[in-house]
Amino acid sequence: MSKTHPKAILREREDLTDSLAVFRFELEGGIPDFEPGQFLTLGLPHPDKPGKVLWRPYSIASPPERKDLMELYVRWARRPVPGKFTTLLWPMGPGDELVYREPKGAFTIQRTRPDGSPETRRMVLVGGGTGIAPFIAYVLHLHHHGCDREIILCHGASYVEELGYRKLLQGLEEESLHGRPDWKFRYLATISRPQEERNAGWDGPTGRVETLIQPAADGGPSLAERVADERFTPENTTFYVCGFQGTVDAVMEAVRDRGFVTRKEAREDGSFDVLYESYG
Ligand SMILES: Cc1cc2nc3c(=O)[nH]c(=O)nc-3n(C[C@H](O)[C@H](O)[C@H](O)COP(=O)(O)OP(=O)(O)OC[C@H]3O[C@@H](n4cnc5c(N)ncnc54)[C@H](O)[C@@H]3O)c2cc1C
Ligand SMILES: NC(=O)c1ccc[n+]([C@@H]2O[C@H](COP(=O)([O-])OP(=O)(O)OC[C@H]3O[C@@H](n4cnc5c(N)ncnc54)[C@H](OP(=O)(O)O)[C@@H]3O)[C@@H](O)[C@H]2O)c1
Repeated sequence: MSKTHPKAILREREDLTDSLAVFRFELEGGIPDFEPGQFLTLGLPHPDKPGKVLWRPYSIASPPERKDLMELYVRWARRPVPGKFTTLLWPMGPGDELVYREPKGAFTIQRTRPDGSPETRRMVLVGGGTGIAPFIAYVLHLHHHGCDREIILCHGASYVEELGYRKLLQGLEEESLHGRPDWKFRYLATISRPQEERNAGWDGPTGRVETLIQPAADGGPSLAERVADERFTPENTTFYVCGFQGTVDAVMEAVRDRGFVTRKEAREDGSFDVLYESYG
């Protein structure tokens, strides 16, 4: 494989299931500065093109303050056919080496409005499956520095054991509920296959993650709005969405008629209320 790319050495992995895992890498040259929400591009020898590198981007789940290892949260894409990169990654263990490209990406926390004033609106983070990864970096970073903005993190997974980072997020919520003044954080989790045996005992919300921000059946406030104790409007709320394009579309369907617009549809003055990153 090319010698011009720096090495990412796998140091730790934690398997949540047989196809979902947290990977922690040491990066040759150390962990670079990056913005929460950016992705690292990993490379492996291309299985079909000798001498070439197969590259794939992965959202960074660790915050930039963590300088020993960089954490990624990865699904083995097994269906309908085994994914090229993740099938090579999956058997790897501590000590195995990949290559990487520096973090990049624009799915980052918006701190100012187009007129230069500070962004103070609530952040509603909506992650489907591994789409929670960039939000772990957001939340740990904001928790580290303190944050006056309210944050509501919504995570959806098919199965309870796929609600990665649940304990961490419940702990961060506890801290908020017990009165740290510069930390207003709530965590909502939902399971989309409640009827399956693997989810027996789950008594929390059900449905895909977008159901947490969709109006109730009677048109009343969504679960996230009930937690916030306020209806969401473009004046008080921003959305960040990561996961399948279907999740992004469902969120926009739920909020578009209230005047929310994405960055791609920014208003004449450059303002927008929804930032998203999707794949597929
Ligand atoms: C900005 C960004 C950040 C990302 N962050 C993450 C992250 O944090 N965690 C994460 O797990 N993923 C993330 N991804 C997705 C990741 O980059 C890869 O796309 C993913 O891991 C699949 O790669 P693969 O090579 O294993 O699969 P690929 O070989 O690229 O295949 C992708 C999918 O297509 C299907 N497929 C392939 N060939 C065919 C075919 N002939 N017919 C039908 N279906 C086919 C496969 O079954 C698979 O489901 C991110 C993507 C982007 C763009
Ligand atoms: N930064 C990024 O761009 C980024 C970061 C991380 C991940 N990703 C991508 O995000 C996606 C999530 O992957 P995953 O393996 O983690 O997901 P997953 O575990 O298979 O599914 C997560 C949740 O999404 C639902 N879902 C499945 N298909 C959907 C669709 N077409 N539209 C809307 N929701 C859907 C699932 O519901 P059911 O139980 O009903 O199937 C489940 O609740 C992948 O495409 C991944 O590559 C992108």
